[in-house]
Amino acid sequence: KYLQKDNLSEECKKLLSFLPKEKGWVGPYIYNYQGFWLPPNFLQRVISFQQQFQAQDSDIILVTIPKSGTTWLKSLLFALVNRVKHPIFESNHPLLVKNPHVLVPFLEHTLYIDGPVPNFLTFTSPRLLATHVPFTSLPKAVQDSKTKLVYLCRNPRDTFISMWHFANNLIVHQEDTKSIEEMFDLFCEGASLYGPFWNHVLDYWKQSIENPQKVIFLMYEEIKKKPKIELKRLAEFLECPFSIEEENSGVVDDILKMCSFENLRNLEVNSNGKLPTGEEYKIFFRRGEVGDWKNYFTIEMSDKLNHIIEEKLQGSGLNF
Ligand code: A3P
Repeated sequence: KYLQKDNLSEECKKLLSFLPKEKGWVGPYIYNYQGFWLPPNFLQRVISFQQQFQAQDSDIILVTIPKSGTTWLKSLLFALVNRVKHPIFESNHPLLVKNPHVLVPFLEHTLYIDGPVPNFLTFTSPRLLATHVPFTSLPKAVQDSKTKLVYLCRNPRDTFISMWHFANNLIVHQEDTKSIEEMFDLFCEGASLYGPFWNHVLDYWKQSIENPQKVIFLMYEEIKKKPKIELKRLAEFLECPFSIEEENSGVVDDILKMCSFENLRNLEVNSNGKLPTGEEYKIFFRRGEVGDWKNYFTIEMSDKLNHIIEEKLQGSGLNF
C-alpha cells in the first residue's frame, strides 16, 4: 500500500504540482493536502474516499496516525464486535488465519486503492473500517452520521520511533535510508505521515469531549496499563458491553490474550504472510512496547519534543 505506484489521474497530478512538499518518509516527497501531509500515491485514494464513501449509521471506523497501534486495535475491534459469531480462540477464528488489516481494511489505502468503487458487498453489519484521515477532512457523511469513530493515539515519541523504523523498513535501496535526525526534524515541524501529529490528535480529542457518543479517544499506553478496563470501555461505547456471564467465563481476558503482541506476531499468517501490495505483515509487529524512544532520543531531542508538546497541547487537557 505504501510503495505501490498508482496511476495518478491528470487532475491529481495537477493538484500535486500546486501543493507544498517536503522530504518524504516512504518516498521522495510528502505533500500537504488540506493541512495534512501524505505521499503522492495516497492523494488519489484519499480524494476517492472523501468523494465516494457512503457512510452507514452502524459503521465503526478506527482512526489513527500511522504507527499508533492500528494493527492491535483492529484485532481487538474485530474480536470484540464478532465475539458471538466467532467465539474467541475457536480453531478457525479469522484472526488466527488472517492479518487484522485484511479483516478491518483501510478506507483510503485498501478499499479505494483501485478507483472510486470498492466492493462493500462482502461486509456484514456493522462494517469495521479504518482510516488515517484527520477529522476535518473526513467525508461530511461520516462527520454527520451516527457512525462511531474509535480514535487511538500513542505517545508521539514512540509513534515517531515506530514510524522511522517503518519507513526505513520499506526502503528498497540502502542509500535511501533516512537518518533519525533528519526524520525527527520533519516530525517536529509537523511533516510526518498524516501529521502534524498534534493537529490530528487534538481534533479527535476535542470531538471525543464534545460528542462522546460518536468519538471514543483511546491511548496505546492506557490499554497496555489497564487492558481490561479499556476494552470494557470500548465495548460500552460500541453498545456491545460484556455481560456478567461473559466476564465470569473469561471472554475479556481471552480477547486480550488472542490479540496480544506475542500471539499475533507468532501466528503463521503474520510471520510469513504479505499484504496484496507486497509488504510483509511482520513489519507491523516490531517491539510493541511503551517507551522504546528512550533507547534512541538524545537529551536535545527529548528537550525539543517536550517543548513542542507543551506548547501545542497547552490547555487541552491532553498530555504525553
Ligand atoms: P513498535 O514499532 O513500537 O514496535 P500500526 O499498527 O499503527 O502500524 O503500529 C505499529 C506499532 O504497534 C508497532 O510498534 C507494533 O510493534 C505495535 N503493535 C502491533 N501489534 C501490537 C499488539 N498486538 N500489541 C501491542 N503493540 C502492537
